[in-house]
Amino acid sequence: MLSSLSSTISRLNLFCPKPSIPHSLSSCLKTLKPQPIIPRWSCLHSLSTHSTSRLSTSLKPQFDALVSKDDLVVLGIETSCDDTAAAVRGNGEILSQVVSSQADLLAKYGGVAPKMAEEAHSQVIDQVVQEALDKANLTARNLSAVAVTIGPGLSLCLRVGVRKARKLAGSFNLPIIGIHHMEAHCLVARLIERELEFPFMALLISGGHNLLILAHDLGHYIQLGTTIDDAIGEAYDKTAKWLGLDMSRSGGPALEELAQEGDAESIKFSTPMKQHRDCNFSYAGLKTQVRLAIGSHNINPEIPISSASSQDRRSRADIAASFQRVAVLHLEERCDRAIEWARKIEPSIKHLVVSGGVASNQYVRARLDHVVKKNNLQLVCPPPKLCTDNGVMVAWTGIEHFCMGRFDPPPPADEHEDYVYDLRPRWPLGEEYAEGRSEARSLRTARIHPSLTSIIQASLQQQ
Ligand code: KG4
Ligand code: ZN
Repeated sequence: MLSSLSSTISRLNLFCPKPSIPHSLSSCLKTLKPQPIIPRWSCLHSLSTHSTSRLSTSLKPQFDALVSKDDLVVLGIETSCDDTAAAVRGNGEILSQVVSSQADLLAKYGGVAPKMAEEAHSQVIDQVVQEALDKANLTARNLSAVAVTIGPGLSLCLRVGVRKARKLAGSFNLPIIGIHHMEAHCLVARLIERELEFPFMALLISGGHNLLILAHDLGHYIQLGTTIDDAIGEAYDKTAKWLGLDMSRSGGPALEELAQEGDAESIKFSTPMKQHRDCNFSYAGLKTQVRLAIGSHNINPEIPISSASSQDRRSRADIAASFQRVAVLHLEERCDRAIEWARKIEPSIKHLVVSGGVASNQYVRARLDHVVKKNNLQLVCPPPKLCTDNGVMVAWTGIEHFCMGRFDPPPPADEHEDYVYDLRPRWPLGEEYAEGRSEARSLRTARIHPSLTSIIQASLQQQ
């Protein structure tokens, strides 16, 4: 319908209009949702309505032209761990994807050293973004918007991506979309599986998070479970480090590989939180059990696995396999219960999405596929490259929100270096499922930002 316009409007000619059409956002969202058409410089409704930061802007809808969703091109920038950027078209076409890994730093320091990581991010971010544009045969002028992760994660690292995104958006007068990292892990599943409609369930497993959610709708998530201490990725990384594995690709892939040589039944680790009939997770206790097993098998983590004797290697492989079996069994048990809970809330669910770095593990995928089939659901697991942190998921989530009119206007081109960015290091995705609340939770609640869901739902109610 609008194809003739596509070349000229692939970049939105933006300005910051005075609100002139005061109709409600929710009514325009209803009409927009089924159609792949979005307003040009449209319903401005920021993700950050409740924030005190200056990233927040909420303008009323203004329709002056329409752009087909397919014609959008959004650049996604993500610096919460590695530096990644990607350009994605509204129809889901991935135009480019660039990742500059911080694995070398991780291996050297055995974890994230925030200041070092910030420096490394700052050194490569310009290059990563430029490469993402070049590979897509684009210049910033061709973009419709810039999406960037604003949390959760380390402020020092997030800041590098946000600064770059705002600079670019300011220079080229582009709207900007602040993205929740875990929502991006979840929604990238809708890029690869176009049949995936809300509501669905998601298990999001990464280095810092273990989340079981019911995704009601875009921006509306119920948290069925979370970790009370460590995430599974952290447990993989620590176990890999203690087993003297090569951490240059992060610990998870190295441990998965070694586990294939081992006997998963050889060491009887106990499954976490058996006595708690909820959907929360805990990996701190399993880490302790692994540490004890490593001590009792006289494994010296200082000796890399490549130099270990065959008997030593065998012990390490047995620990790796036994750890992996129980770590994943914990996921299976929690998913089983979460499916039961989710069906009570939303009987129509058909899919379980499994995403986040740990979801690139083949054993994890196979075991969860079994759980999902047993419960007559379908598993949606993005390809490994889209499970680990990537700019595509950020760009795609940007597209999803942009099409709902949730974005901020272009920042000023001459924004001062000292500008205080809206960063959300501790930012829940959804509201906790009240019936599932557990006494085992010992989560720290200080300085937590209101959840993405509560912000969006509250802003919808205001309209
Ligand atoms: O989502 P992600 O890339 O970054 C975070 O948001 O944390 O996840 C990184 C985590 C790391 O802990 C890494 O060891 C783990 O995902 N991971 C894996 C595998 N690939 C990455 N864990 C187990 N098996 C894998 N194949
Ligand atoms: Zn991640």
